[in-house]
Amino acid sequence: MDYRSLISTLDFSLEEQDAILALADRIAASPTESGHLLGGHVMASLFFEPSTRTRLSFESAMLRLGGRVIGFSEAASSSVSKGESLSDTIKTVSRYSDLIVIRHPKEGAAQVAAQIAGIPVINAGDGGREHPTQTLTDLMTIRAVKGRLGDMCIGCAGDLKFGRTVHSLVRNAARYPGTKFLFVSPAELTIPAFLRAHLNERGIPYEETTDMERSIADMDVLYMTRVQRERFFNEADYIRLKDSYILDANKLKRAKPDLTILHPLPRVNEISAEVDADPRAAYFDQVGYGLYARMALILTLLKGGAL
Ligand code: CP
Repeated sequence: MDYRSLISTLDFSLEEQDAILALADRIAASPTESGHLLGGHVMASLFFEPSTRTRLSFESAMLRLGGRVIGFSEAASSSVSKGESLSDTIKTVSRYSDLIVIRHPKEGAAQVAAQIAGIPVINAGDGGREHPTQTLTDLMTIRAVKGRLGDMCIGCAGDLKFGRTVHSLVRNAARYPGTKFLFVSPAELTIPAFLRAHLNERGIPYEETTDMERSIADMDVLYMTRVQRERFFNEADYIRLKDSYILDANKLKRAKPDLTILHPLPRVNEISAEVDADPRAAYFDQVGYGLYARMALILTLLKGGAL
């Protein structure tokens, strides 16, 4: 097997990941230079769950690299709606394309796809488990704004139980020396046991709290997340927990002047609109970095990172 997939956030070594991030920086500095590199290549974009940023940034990335895109944005418009299995869908699509990008509500679906496809597969989010390309985006943003990865306190706030972006980011950012974490969530939405065990086994410092007002002052990065309505078993729990933390100008008075505020988006109301004008808000810049991170990833998987 002479190709790679990206299913889990730790699939690439730190050196490989830093090379992808460096390539993303080069593309961002001169986006038109990479315009013809993937002529003749086809990417399949299979989204079994809703998406705005991930799907459109992947599709835009492939088009900007000179490739073409096929796919669907909801299972209802594919033969899955007639009862076709994921396995048969992947076996079919892999005969039409050079690369598969898949988002699926079931944890492990991307791994299954990678085992069957015979071509590179990228996990664009599998249930509440992983979102590794959001992590590449997050790391590119942090490095661009802070000038470094590591030696910082990353606060994660909101739904840390179901938030797949947090699960991927924390395990990945923990590889950069000097990173510590502050987890802010209601007691019902704390980080899952597997993430706690991962940090404990590696001696990575972290604190868990329900108190945003006290902890925000210690953070260099604040990674806000929405409460994941689609992963709750009952609506009453969602309604009770959805407004646990709303970041507003008042709460930010206690934060560092060089805090970086990130959010994978979509936001519901966990960041008040008034924060958008704060120079510390970087979540729309983060959306832009996602395009370059995904261009660099596609190039790496299809051309060994050639630029
Ligand atoms: N951050 C993210 O995954 O956004 P979408 O759900 O819009 O793709």
